[in-house]
Amino acid sequence: MASTLAPLSGFAKEHKSVRGYLDTAANSHGAEKGLLTHRALQRITSARPHLVEIGPDGGAAVSFLSSRLQQGQHGFAEIDLTLIEVPDVASGALTQAIQEFNRVGTCEVVRGFAQDIGTLLERQADVISASALLHEVYSYGGGYGGLHSLMRTLPTVL
Ligand SMILES: C[S@@+](CC[C@H](N)C(=O)[O-])C[C@H]1O[C@@H](n2cnc3c(N)ncnc32)[C@H](O)[C@@H]1O
Repeated sequence: MASTLAPLSGFAKEHKSVRGYLDTAANSHGAEKGLLTHRALQRITSARPHLVEIGPDGGAAVSFLSSRLQQGQHGFAEIDLTLIEVPDVASGALTQAIQEFNRVGTCEVVRGFAQDIGTLLERQADVISASALLHEVYSYGGGYGGLHSLMRTLPTVL
């Protein structure tokens, strides 16, 4: 899907997809990255919450959430997790984390840009997580214009 804003300029997809970076260097501290999402989830009353994580990278937060949401014990009928990741950024660790999450709920990756979140989600989100993401939008996704657009769009999809 084409970005409605300026495309990411200068985003080093090749370097950011290197296994050593995505799967190892940038893929730790899942508890730190997923803790607030897990806490927010505990305040959701929907029978089938929809979580969204923008920029999951190697999936550390996804793995953390899976470990916290024991199958059949989280109290929801189902939990859906949508991951929004830049096209062509691929991680083996994320694939594994998605498989883990699929044991406690459903998880899919949507390829696109945070700035276009208004057109990327199939249904409203209950929780949106974006750890270490905004500086990327600023640097490669339109500077303050991209940030302001994202901030204005978030309430429309929540
Ligand atoms: C610095 S990493 C942070 C990864 C992880 N969330 C964390 O806290 O460690 C930024 C992540 O956001 C993705 N990303 C960068 N710009 C993006 C954009 N405009 N829209 C969606 N994802 C983006 C990158 O590919 C990467 O997965």
